[in-house]
Amino acid sequence: MQDSSNKPDLDESLNVTESHDRTVRDAAAVQREKHVDEGGREPMSLWVFGACAFILLIAGLALGSAGTLFNYDETVRPGYVRAALDGGDSAGPPPAEALKVYMAKGEKIYGKCIGCHAPDGKGGGAYPALAGSDWVVGDTQKFAMIVLNGLSGPSSTGKNWGVMPAQGIGMSPTDLAAVMTYVRNSFGNSVGDVVTSEMAAEAIAISEARANAGAPTSADELSADHAKMLPGEPLDPSTMLDPITLEPVETEG
Ligand code: HEC
Repeated sequence: MQDSSNKPDLDESLNVTESHDRTVRDAAAVQREKHVDEGGREPMSLWVFGACAFILLIAGLALGSAGTLFNYDETVRPGYVRAALDGGDSAGPPPAEALKVYMAKGEKIYGKCIGCHAPDGKGGGAYPALAGSDWVVGDTQKFAMIVLNGLSGPSSTGKNWGVMPAQGIGMSPTDLAAVMTYVRNSFGNSVGDVVTSEMAAEAIAISEARANAGAPTSADELSADHAKMLPGEPLDPSTMLDPITLEPVETEG
């Protein structure tokens, strides 16, 4: 038997089991009467949540149908267009004079010719000069037939250089018009006119209708059949064009 004199004899002063049961009962009662305060972090009743959602939904519908909440008329000014960026407007590059527009395009197409006729158009070696050539600055129909079909036999100076291969394959009327305008106004050539896309389209039709279609042209054929300007309405070289579409544009003033 242990010495129990140091320990309180609980049974004597207190019935532990009964006391514990009472404590539990009281706590349960308090729990029933009043939610335990968790400092605002107690879980929200589901019905409160549902009520709030319902109120927001109705409010949203009311505001939306009244046309004020999701109506962008309030935020977008009528007739407002984005301001132009420096150096151009949002519609693309600014209009420019027809001669400049065609020449700028033609300078790129001249890449097809540059290997033989040289960057300065003076030719050299086995190739004649385009600078100062009568067939470049003269009748546009002669020049067009040479570009589209190539050239065999004597050149404009009577000298025989050999054969120039046809350059027309894959060339659009605009490409042809542009490169002709470029060559007629570069390397010291200064005809000052524009060979238009419409004229170049005529040239392609004339070229396809040649009796010896597919063969290089010759000095004889050029002087017999093509000693004339291409048909088509001349274009004032100072007409303002859209540099992309090559269409004339309205300008103020
Ligand atoms: C592969 C070389 C070569 C290329 C590329 C070439 N040419 Fe020629 N070109 C020649 C030769 C060679 C002659 C001379 C042909 C002859 O004597 O019959 C010539 C002649 C010409 C002539 C006649 C010149 C004159 O006064 O008699 C013109 C105009 C001409 N070329 C324009 C062009 C243009 C424009 C292009 C580009 C679209 C071009 N050529 C591309 C080789 C070339």
